[in-house]
Amino acid sequence: MTSGLPRRLAVLNAKGGTGKTTLAVHLAAGLARRAPTVLADLDPQGSASQWGALAGMVVLDGERALAAEPEPCHVVWDCPPSVDHPAAQRALASADAVLVPVLPSPLDLWASWRLVQAVVAEQARRPGLRAWLVVNQVEPSSALSQAMHEALREFGLPALRAVVRRRAVFRRAALQGSTAYAMGPSAAAAVADIEAVIEEMQR
Ligand SMILES: Nc1ncnc2c1ncn2[C@@H]1O[C@H](COP(=O)(O)OP(=O)(O)O)[C@@H](O)[C@H]1O
Ligand SMILES: [Mg+2]
Repeated sequence: MTSGLPRRLAVLNAKGGTGKTTLAVHLAAGLARRAPTVLADLDPQGSASQWGALAGMVVLDGERALAAEPEPCHVVWDCPPSVDHPAAQRALASADAVLVPVLPSPLDLWASWRLVQAVVAEQARRPGLRAWLVVNQVEPSSALSQAMHEALREFGLPALRAVVRRRAVFRRAALQGSTAYAMGPSAAAAVADIEAVIEEMQR
């Protein structure tokens, strides 16, 4: 594994549509450039495993995804959109780090309150567990609103300074079964967004 980066990373939110799958696939693609990496799909919808397989990534789903302990690899878990789902709970219980993608609106953020409390409770049990919010789908070339900054400060988890912008290339990657890493110069800004997230998780 790459030193300082989480070996087992859970991408988790109780809300659908915040970008769990998009980020899990892209984080796994970015980590795979550093060390062997498995994309582990815990969402019964199976979109990460379909996408990852098309993109030529190493993918596991179902029970095999939960059992993924492939030292010295990284594992990225794309979790189902429910904090009550047993697979989400098991991923939370065995992750080294949790990333919670949130949309750049305070209302959307507050919808994740209960999930964030579950992550904070797990951190109380396991102080080594690292966890961050990451704001996804930020409007290109615009800053986060003051209200969003304030809402982020009131949450029990730190937000990464890095944000992921709303970029058509992320949607195109899903449609084409590819990732921004394989899409050439037109995807460079999207790759830079993901790389900034990876670098900020590295301690
Ligand atoms: N940064 C982004 N820029 C543009 N579209 C995005 C971005 N992140 C996610 N999307 C799109 O938003 C929708 C929901 O994303 P998805 O990753 O499926 O979320 P989740 O897995 O949390 O339900 C998808 O259509 C996806 O292509
Ligand atoms: Mg998903």
